[in-house]
Amino acid sequence: MSKNLIEKAASRLHEPDAANGFPPPPSARVLDALGPDAATPLSAFEHRPMPAPGDGPQGQSIDRARLRRLGMLTPDDERTQIGEQFRLVKRPILDKAFGPPASRLPRGNLVMVASSLPGEGKSFCAVNLAISIAMEMDRTVLLVDADVERSKVLHYLGLTAQHGLLDILRTPGLTVGDALVRTDIERLSVLPGGTPYKRATELLASEAMRKLVRELASRYPDRLILFDSPPLLMTTEAAVLAAHMGQIVMVVEERQTPQDALKRALATIGGLPVSGLVLNKSTSRHRAYYYDDV
Ligand SMILES: Nc1ncnc2c1ncn2[C@@H]1O[C@H](COP(=O)(O)OP(=O)(O)O)[C@@H](O)[C@H]1O
Ligand SMILES: [Mg+2]
Repeated sequence: MSKNLIEKAASRLHEPDAANGFPPPPSARVLDALGPDAATPLSAFEHRPMPAPGDGPQGQSIDRARLRRLGMLTPDDERTQIGEQFRLVKRPILDKAFGPPASRLPRGNLVMVASSLPGEGKSFCAVNLAISIAMEMDRTVLLVDADVERSKVLHYLGLTAQHGLLDILRTPGLTVGDALVRTDIERLSVLPGGTPYKRATELLASEAMRKLVRELASRYPDRLILFDSPPLLMTTEAAVLAAHMGQIVMVVEERQTPQDALKRALATIGGLPVSGLVLNKSTSRHRAYYYDDV
C-alpha cells in the first residue's frame, strides 16, 4: 500500500490535536440505524438455544430483518446503497483471489478484515462482504470469526452454534466440519468464534491455528475464506494471524480512528499484503469508501 494512499485515507481520520473546526461525530442518522440490537449482549453461545436438531440441508436462516435494522446488506437487496458500496469493496478482493494470474496474490483467497481498534467496523464489513460475495453466482465464501473474545458474526447474522474456532483448536477430534454453520444462503458458511474462555486470543498464534488455516486453504482452494479479526493494537496475536493471509483489508473509521493508531496498526503488519482500505462510517453520502491500491 502506498504512502499516498494512507495519507489520503488518513486525512479523513480523527486528528486529536485539531480541536478547532473538528467535524461532528458520525451523524445521528448513522447511529440511529443501529436500532435496539446495538446494545444486546453478543455472546450467542451463552444466551441462545442450540440449533434445532435437523436444521436441514439448507442450513440455518439468516435473520434478514436484523441485518436491515443494523443497516447491513441483506441477501435480498443487493441494489441498496450499502449493496453498491460492498460491490465496490469486493471486486478487487475477488480479483486478487481468483482473477487472471497477473492480478492474483499468493494465497489470495485467505482474506483478513483488520483494524486498529475495537468498534471501527471489522465485523460489520466482514459480514457485509461475505454476503455480497456469496451473492455472486460462482463464488463460495467461508466467514471465520477470529475475533474470538468479541465474537459478533453469529449475532449479526442471527445464527446459533454449538462449536466454533476455539473449540476446534482446543478439542482433539473436533473438526471444521463439526463446527461449520451452513446458512440458507447456499454459498455462505460460517465458522463461529466458539466457546469463550480466558485469554482465548492467544490460541490465534498457536501452531494449531497455523495448521487450521493451512487446512482451510487447501481444502477449499476455490472458496474465499474471510477472517473477522481482533483489533491489531489490542492483541499481538492479530498480527500473527495476519501473517497467514494472502490479503488484508484495513477498516478505518472516519473521524474516529486516530491517524497515529492507523500508522501503528500498519506497522504491526509491515510487509504483509494490505490490499485495500475501507473508510467506514463515513458521514458523507456514501457510508463506506474503498481505496484499492495493488
Ligand atoms: N458503516 C456502518 N454504518 C452503520 N453502523 C456501522 C457501520 N460500521 C459499523 N457500524 C456499527 O458500529 C458498531 C461497531 O462495529 P463492529 O463491526 O462490531 O466493530 P468491530 O468489529 O471493529 O469491533 C456496531 O454497532 C456496528 O453495527
Ligand atoms: Mg468485531
